[in-house]
Amino acid sequence: MIRSLVVGVFALAACSRAPAAATVDCAALEGRNAVQTEMRRLECAMQRSVSAIARDELATIPELIHVVHGARQATEKALERGEYQPTGADLATFVSMDEAFHRSLVQLVEAAKSGDHTATSSALGGALGQCQGCHAVFRPSAANVR
Ligand code: HEC
Repeated sequence: MIRSLVVGVFALAACSRAPAAATVDCAALEGRNAVQTEMRRLECAMQRSVSAIARDELATIPELIHVVHGARQATEKALERGEYQPTGADLATFVSMDEAFHRSLVQLVEAAKSGDHTATSSALGGALGQCQGCHAVFRPSAANVR
């Protein structure tokens, strides 16, 4: 009993010292195509945004999302050049879903800049609420995920 209590206390101490997922540089993540690269950086930025909310570090969110916007420009070029062809539906639908999604990221950045936790959390939720809608139509098979 005492032993497990001691182990528990040490585990707690280790947990409270853990950095805010600072080990991953979202901008360094790469996929096999422009969209995968954008998505891996996006996933990373979303995870870090949760930590930023949890740790009251909202001011770090704009930079995290900036990385995603940079990757999105590469996606736009790949779409224009025909290097990335969305599967499942037409390009116009993909572009309009993508635009709506990125508008919600802009809302996230604005809420974070204003230091408003409630608005930031709900903007993050709004962005996360759109992931599956696009994946259901445009994401190739799960075999492509890794
Ligand atoms: C406008 C469409 C769209 C939206 C919105 C979207 N995704 Fe994606 N996502 C894709 C597509 C397309 C793929 C598949 C890319 C490929 O494999 O070619 C993908 C793949 C992924 C992958 C797998 C990447 C890999 O390693 O293969 C992750 C993770 C991901 N998305 C995260 C997210 C998250 C998190 C959100 C919401 C916060 C989101 N996506 C919103 C289109 C979208």
